Amino acid sequence: MTEKYGFAVNGRPVSVECDGTAPLLSVLREYLGLRGSKFGCGTEQCGACMVLIDGKPEYSCSREVSTVAGRDVTTVEGLAKDGGLHPLQQALLDEQAGQCGYCLSGILVSAAALLEKNPKPSRAEIIAALDPHLCRCGIHNRVIRAVQKAGAALAETAR
Ligand code: FES
Ligand code: FES
Repeated sequence: MTEKYGFAVNGRPVSVECDGTAPLLSVLREYLGLRGSKFGCGTEQCGACMVLIDGKPEYSCSREVSTVAGRDVTTVEGLAKDGGLHPLQQALLDEQAGQCGYCLSGILVSAAALLEKNPKPSRAEIIAALDPHLCRCGIHNRVIRAVQKAGAALAETAR
């Protein structure tokens, strides 16, 4: 049934009128024009659609939009602040951690959530946090280095 759903996306309130069973990913991409989050499998198997809901990584391909009413959604478009890249985005560029890039928006939001609660994650903690993300191009080691680098940069700015 078509209804209005209000929630926040990247810090801004939005209201969409749609079927409450519509996947959040479709609403973000088609209604709100935020094309960063990607459709990969649609079955919680690849992580390409990952967004943060109240700061926690969640699959948006299988998430009904009605369940995010009143909540805070962050997509990859919301990571950059004040016209500058998020340290993770800069670190991914520095490490050249990307080939086709299809997996990166999901990886970025999961890694941002990790660094938010643990700015100095171990290699094992990074691997565990990024476990839901498939990358067919094999950039894993570069991504791990980039997350460590971004954590160090964030710790430096927090001093
Ligand atoms: S598209 Fe959502 S996990 Fe693959
Ligand atoms: S860079 Fe191509 S899927 Fe990860």
